[in-house]
Amino acid sequence: MIHIMGYIKCAALEETGYVVLDRYNQELDPQEWLDIEYVDWKSSGDTRFAPLASKDGEIECNGFWHGKNPRTDKDGVWIESQVAKAPHLTARAKEPGANVGRCRVIELQPNTYADCLYNLHQDDNNRLNPDGTGWVVRGFFNLTDDKDSYFVLRENRTDPSGETRIALPAGAQLIIDTQRLWHAAAHYGTEPRYCLITSWESGPELDAYIEKYHGRSRVESVDVPQEILDAGQAEQSRRIAARAAALAARGQAEKVAMSEA
Ligand SMILES: [Fe+2]
Repeated sequence: MIHIMGYIKCAALEETGYVVLDRYNQELDPQEWLDIEYVDWKSSGDTRFAPLASKDGEIECNGFWHGKNPRTDKDGVWIESQVAKAPHLTARAKEPGANVGRCRVIELQPNTYADCLYNLHQDDNNRLNPDGTGWVVRGFFNLTDDKDSYFVLRENRTDPSGETRIALPAGAQLIIDTQRLWHAAAHYGTEPRYCLITSWESGPELDAYIEKYHGRSRVESVDVPQEILDAGQAEQSRRIAARAAALAARGQAEKVAMSEA
């Protein structure tokens, strides 16, 4: 017997693994991300998170496969106290009409391109996702106006060829297959970056949303001087080697994937 395995995916994400949507007019909205409640949750840098929807409706950030009623990153439970403080953000996450899993605001402290390369990781959105249902991807809506910051995407963690760097002004809107692409943000400046991250199920609703906001599967990379790119690449190699050596010294195998964001 042959089992045909597969998930429903968005065609728009097939080529590059990402789309950039039209920019949102963020300036019109209140800064709701300053009002909601954050929890310490280290993921790919110096971060905290404010969940709007979580596995059980609590203000916590665990993967949905933990604890009772384990499941993939779908059917997130909206957190009343947070939603009340962030109605615009909630509405934006619900706008596509696709199933929402985790929905949360990340707070990321400033870092560098080299930090970002070391922080590159793939998400585990589709653990426990039943075959034949929609593949879980993530939306990233930049909230703060981070003019010098950019999102880095790679097909391979350590291979700089084909790297894409996407600008992160206020209102930048990306949808990324974060289980396929290695990703992290390089965030320059003195203030934290805030970004709304939503897990959506792929399907006709998300297709229509991407089309409505003119999703583009290729954008020009943010220009970064070659010497910074080279120094970042060298630093990534050094840190990965140092971590492998430290783990080996403790008699552990290196974990292939870094902590899941
Ligand atoms: Fe991630």
